[in-house]
Amino acid sequence: MASKNLANAKEAKKDEFYTQLADIENELKHYRQHFKGKIVFCNCDDPYESNFFKYFAINFNALGLKKLIATCYDGSPFLGSELLFDFGEETKDDYPKKAYKVEITEVTDINGDGRVDLGDVQYLLKNDKNVLTKLKGSGDFRSVECIELMKEADVVVTNPPFSLFREYVAQLMKYEKKFLIIGNQNAITYKEIFPLIKNNKLWLGYKTGDMAFRVPDYYEARETRYWQDESGQKWRSMGNICWFTNLEHKKRHEELILYAHYNPEYYPKYDNYDAINVDRVSEIPCDYDGVMGVPITFLDKYNPEQFEIVEFRKGADGKDLIYSNLRGGGRLSLTSEYSSVDVDKWINEQSQRYGSEWQEQVCKDSYPATSIPGMIKNKEGLIKGKITYARIIIRKRKHIS
Ligand SMILES: C[S@@+](CC[C@H](N)C(=O)[O-])C[C@H]1O[C@@H](n2cnc3c(N)ncnc32)[C@H](O)[C@@H]1O
Repeated sequence: MASKNLANAKEAKKDEFYTQLADIENELKHYRQHFKGKIVFCNCDDPYESNFFKYFAINFNALGLKKLIATCYDGSPFLGSELLFDFGEETKDDYPKKAYKVEITEVTDINGDGRVDLGDVQYLLKNDKNVLTKLKGSGDFRSVECIELMKEADVVVTNPPFSLFREYVAQLMKYEKKFLIIGNQNAITYKEIFPLIKNNKLWLGYKTGDMAFRVPDYYEARETRYWQDESGQKWRSMGNICWFTNLEHKKRHEELILYAHYNPEYYPKYDNYDAINVDRVSEIPCDYDGVMGVPITFLDKYNPEQFEIVEFRKGADGKDLIYSNLRGGGRLSLTSEYSSVDVDKWINEQSQRYGSEWQEQVCKDSYPATSIPGMIKNKEGLIKGKITYARIIIRKRKHIS
């Protein structure tokens, strides 16, 4: 047990990447309409340290929030000193430190001079309506008491521990929460995450790419993507950060303008799938209506009204069978007879024969041809015998009248 705790603590120590206020502001400005009258929960956030807490405290009234809750995990290296003051019972020797929650229901600029930083926890706690309470457990987002807080909340917003990303998202899904969280783009290819994207239960937010984070003092220096500022604060940056959300936003409905033209030499087909390979999102051809394997960065531009993520399945004859995720599949003995012909023709014929609820049936009667339906990964995709990069399988939607 002791060694498990130690391992957990060690793992948690690698998760201390603190988000900058400017990055939070730049993203959150696109979602203002989702917060009015809502309870926001930041469940990986030491209120004294987290800019997520600070952002929502500062903007509490402007957003029209009903309540802001933040819980602090007892692995946080910053937690502790403030508590000596607040609880008056711990001493410095009481490590591991205690976790706590802060609940804010009223934010007032008491003297109206605007000089007080409304993200200042001590200041906020001077208002009797706001409370700081010690948690019974460690503040782990998976603990019963933190789950109870999550159930109470409408929207969860944070940068969760990267090492627990899968579990974190699974919990959000289980409790059907609205959320906006930071993660690594690699998570797109996780078998637990991609199906959610494919099924429109999760999508990317606005910003993707580079982001810099403050890190604790114990983080070691690195050759790249590491620096110390003039105050001695250590920083790390990552080039593949993105926001994951299920909150609607405008960008998700913007049309991607396509310029490139298809030619078979430049866009080779996979050896084993009836799809062309596209190396860059900017090179998605405007005049190709079939299935395309595109880089995972495509998701940054994914408009589900313009494209659909499709999957390859194997028919009863063991050969690849293309069918559209949204338009359904066939019934009974599915064979690949149409797979390299015209998918729309096949779909139309199937729907005329079997009516509208054949989506379910095709899943029963065929099986996915790739380990993650809708994605070609690792050795699954070959072009002239060579392995390709991870690709999302898409095609343009036809607006059938
Ligand atoms: C990537 S950091 C981000 C911190 C803060 N949300 C921010 O954006 O500045 C993730 C935080 O989650 C905390 N954490 C690690 N494991 C946790 C767990 N099981 N439950 C809750 N928080 C955890 C870490 O201590 C760390 O402070």
